[in-house]
Parts: sequence; structure tokens; C-alpha cells
Amino acid sequence: MPLGKIGNTDLHLIKSEKVNPYKNIPIFIKLESQNPTKSIKDRMVHHVVSKAKDSLSEEITFVSASSGNTGTSLAYICKLMNFRCVIVTNTKCSEEKINACKAFGAEVIVADSDAKPNTDNHYQQIAVNLASSNSNYFDLDQYGNKGNIEAYYKTLGPEIWEQTDGEITHFVTGGSTCGTVMGAGSFLKSKENKIKVVLADPIGSSISEYITSETVSSEPGKYVIEGVGKDSIPKLLDRELIDSVIEITDQEAIDMCHILKSEEGLYLGGSSGLNIAAAIKYASKLPKDSKSTIVTIGCDSGEKYASKIYSDKWLNQNKFDRNISTK
Ligand SMILES: Cc1ncc(COP(=O)(O)O)c(C=O)c1O
Repeated sequence: MPLGKIGNTDLHLIKSEKVNPYKNIPIFIKLESQNPTKSIKDRMVHHVVSKAKDSLSEEITFVSASSGNTGTSLAYICKLMNFRCVIVTNTKCSEEKINACKAFGAEVIVADSDAKPNTDNHYQQIAVNLASSNSNYFDLDQYGNKGNIEAYYKTLGPEIWEQTDGEITHFVTGGSTCGTVMGAGSFLKSKENKIKVVLADPIGSSISEYITSETVSSEPGKYVIEGVGKDSIPKLLDRELIDSVIEITDQEAIDMCHILKSEEGLYLGGSSGLNIAAAIKYASKLPKDSKSTIVTIGCDSGEKYASKIYSDKWLNQNKFDRNISTK
């Protein structure tokens, strides 16, 4: 049964010293790109839809705001469970992700990515308005649904704990809804309170600013990495759980994606590049004799970004250096 293939992904140890020069600090990547729709979101959507399913009629339509991956997961899971769904995304979402939603039969609405948060044209608000004006619509509400955190608390956290035999000392990952960092992070701390949770964030996102100073500037910066960072404070984020923040530039995240491809044979998306770049930067700050084991997340597959961060044309057009060959 395809739904049974969600989770239990591999934990990859970085071997190349070009990627991780800190030999005494093992860095592992949880390969969430191995899920059926090639992203971590299969875990959350499967959990939330399965919980909702028993209390809903067969006529129900699921709706979700998504930067792409949640939409693909929802389209796939609704197809297998025989539900209709509507995905609301924005113009930042790659063509590959939009096409994947459509391929599983979802209706897709693409909003302007420049729309201000909490206005009617913002993609998250469009989904909220759709659900509130249609009684047979169920909003997945990944930004406010505690089931999002629960999914990672019950699956991702325990897998990481078992796969590292409880040796993990640092969990590094980015956030959008912050379900991953809250769910897996709180599970890991429940097993060993000394484990540090480190939030990786694109420069320009409001999340790191909120964690470090509890404020958010009115004009968030721009960054191209998809699926992580936010222009507002994620409702599910509890800043008390986060021990440190590492900020990463688009260029650093993109470079890391290309190095991982050539050195480790891993073809991962931009947020994975950002996570791994943050894990390495964090390792560089640890004492040389540190007995640390870092785990970070490979959130989704590089295939979803073939026309963007893996395209020479796109890199040139967007004025990114090609420090590492894209071939
Ligand atoms: C590619 C990618 N990476 C990371 C994340 C962040 O996960 P979370 O929403 O659990 O914070 C997302 C979420 O949309 C994503 O699509």
C-alpha cells in the first residue's frame, strides 16, 4: 500500500571532507526526499488527513495553502483516499511542484507572492477564506493545526533518536510552519534535555529575528530558497524550544546543493542545502574536541527545482555565482 511507504527514511552520514571538514563531528542528513511525493510533508498530511477522515463525510473537499510540497502531498493522499482537494500556492512556487499537484487531480490557485501577509490576496488568506465560505471544505490549516507538530513528534523524532542510538546532540532544521522543528525538536528534548535545537533560516526571513529579539520588521527581506523562512511569525513556533539560530544566504544554500550532488550523490532541494549549510556552520563554532553528533533534514528532492537552482540559465538570470559546476 503506497501510504505505508511514508516515513522510515534513511539517515545519511556525510562522508566527503569537502562537505563536512570537521572530521570529529558526524553530520547526518535525514533523507525525507525518499517519501512517496519526495518531501517531508507526506508525514504531516497523512497524519492530519487520517485524523480528520473519520469525522468527515465523503463529500468533503480538503483545502490547503502551500508553498508546493504540502499541496503535492495533499493531492497524492486525497487521490488515494478518494477526496477532492484545492491547493492555494503563490508565484514563487516552482512549475514542477504546481504540475505535480495537478497530476494527482488537485485544483490549483496561484496567488501573487508579493501580496502582504493577512491581506485577501495573500495565498494563506485565500485558503482561509475559501474554507470559511464553503461548509463542505476542510482547511488543513498547516500553519495553525497542532496535528502538524504531532506528526513529527510521533514519527520523525523517534526515527532520528533510534537511528542515532540516542547519540544525537544537535538537531538543525529550517522552519516555515515550524511543525518539523517543534515536533521532532520537542520529542528529542523529551528523550534528552541536553539536545540543542538549532533553527536554520534564510537571511531576510522574519523567524530568526523573532527568535532572537521577539520582534519582526515590517519589511521582510527577499530570498529565493523555497519552503523555509517566513514573512510573519509562524503560529506553531514556540521560541523557547529553540537554542540557537543560524542564518544562511541563498548563495550558500545553492552552493551546498551542488556540492552535495557532486560529492555525496544527493540530489536535494534548496531548503536541504540551507539546512546542511547551517549544520556545517554550526559545527565550525563547536570546540575541536566536541563530542557532538548533528542531525539535519533533507526536506525534499532536487527534481522539484530542476528549472531553478539546478538550471544554469536560471542561476545566470538571477545573478547567482556558479561556484560549483551544475553539471
Ligand atoms: C521544501 C521544504 N523544506 C522545509 C519546509 C519546512 O517545514 P515546516 O513547515 O515543518 O517548518 C517546508 C515546508 O513547507 C518545505 O516545503
